[in-house]
Amino acid sequence: MPTKIKLAMILIVAALIGGLVAIQPGARAVAQGDAAAQLKRGEYLVHEVARCIDCHTPRTADGELDMTKLLQGAPTWFTPKIKPKGKWEDRAQDLTMSGLASKWGEERLVKFLSTGQKADAPMPAYKLTVEDAKAVVAYLRSLPGKKKS
Ligand code: HEC
Repeated sequence: MPTKIKLAMILIVAALIGGLVAIQPGARAVAQGDAAAQLKRGEYLVHEVARCIDCHTPRTADGELDMTKLLQGAPTWFTPKIKPKGKWEDRAQDLTMSGLASKWGEERLVKFLSTGQKADAPMPAYKLTVEDAKAVVAYLRSLPGKKKS
């Protein structure tokens, strides 16, 4: 092989390797960005849309959510005039890592929240998309709860 071609090949191989090395940190940044976006979406769903916080966070004496105990389990703060059929629970469990986020784990929670599985009233049956359920669970699993992080 003439030296010029050899040199050209070496340069091409070097450029390819250089390209791969350059792309990798970018890919990692995208993956990290995805995880951050997923957590943000989970937080939005839990706080603003599905409103898990309303029942699973205890309240202060003046009825406000006690955000220092976010999603750490709470007594049910309302009673319907007519109780629905079946069991009525007077407590909503801890959903953080000191509770179901760790006890149930990701798979069981995602299934529970995306397939409309029933629990006792007043827990609603949710049929979130798997993607949204995963975001909710990722957010719940980011909360240490009563455990020190
Ligand atoms: C209207 C009040 C209310 C809302 C809103 C609510 N929950 Fe619950 N949740 C409860 C109560 C009460 C229980 C206890 C029911 C039981 O033990 O079966 C419960 C139980 C659960 C359980 C355990 C179910 C079981 O079978 O033991 C999980 C998991 C859960 N909730 C997750 C969530 C998530 C995640 C959200 C938001 C997407 C949410 N909950 C929103 C009241 C609520």
